[in-house]
Amino acid sequence: MTVKLAVSADGFIAPPSREPQWITGAPARAEVHRMRANADAIGIGVGTAIADDPLLTVRHWSRPRVNPVRVVFDSEARLPITAQLVLTSRAQPVLVLGQRPDPAAAKALIEAGVDVQQVAGLADGLRLLHERGVRHLLVEGGALLASALVRESLADRVIIFHSPARLGPGAVPAFTAGIGDPLSAPERWTQLVRRPIGDDTLAIWAPRR
Ligand SMILES: NC(=O)c1ccc[n+]([C@@H]2O[C@H](COP(=O)([O-])OP(=O)(O)OC[C@H]3O[C@@H](n4cnc5c(N)ncnc54)[C@H](OP(=O)(O)O)[C@@H]3O)[C@@H](O)[C@H]2O)c1
Repeated sequence: MTVKLAVSADGFIAPPSREPQWITGAPARAEVHRMRANADAIGIGVGTAIADDPLLTVRHWSRPRVNPVRVVFDSEARLPITAQLVLTSRAQPVLVLGQRPDPAAAKALIEAGVDVQQVAGLADGLRLLHERGVRHLLVEGGALLASALVRESLADRVIIFHSPARLGPGAVPAFTAGIGDPLSAPERWTQLVRRPIGDDTLAIWAPRR
């Protein structure tokens, strides 16, 4: 279970406008596609699905080892029916994990080709993924989902692409305050990797358990 975020020099993951914006350079973004190509599943929170409308496919890289299932952590099945994920769900699977999915919204998503499953919470969702053969889930944000995974000690690795760009003030913080993430509590984490990648820096952390 890997959490990956791109973080600005002042600790933010999205600008004040919330408009989708590349924070890192092309080499870092290519590295993300390499990581995706080695994952069984790629996850996001529904906040990111709504804000960025991402595809979460593997591009700029050779064919992935498996075609990763795209997973949205979405308590009430708020994923818009017009989202790129939904529109492409028959070509590459999309799984919505919800605690209390709205029945009408879930029905519409299922009819559009999305798999909607009710789970008790994050850990239960990860259990379901494991039962389906997912051995490496790469979660690409946003802040609320990444924070929840760290807070519940479910993250085996945290990958941070540090950008030299600044986004604040008023931007979206990488993690919600006081959750013991590698940026605010590095003493609880072992840094496995730190290396430049283009103009950015890649850092990989493992929790000290
Ligand atoms: N720089 C980066 O690496 C990066 C990466 C991704 C996103 N972003 C940016 O981050 C912003 C979105 O971040 P965000 O924090 O608002 O959204 P998020 O973390 O993507 O999604 C949050 C939503 O996920 C749902 N959720 C389901 N299970 C959850 C759980 N156990 N804990 C917490 N949330 C859960 C909640 O909605 P329900 O209650 O409806 O389920 C929650 O509101 C966007 O502006 C996007 O551009 C940046």
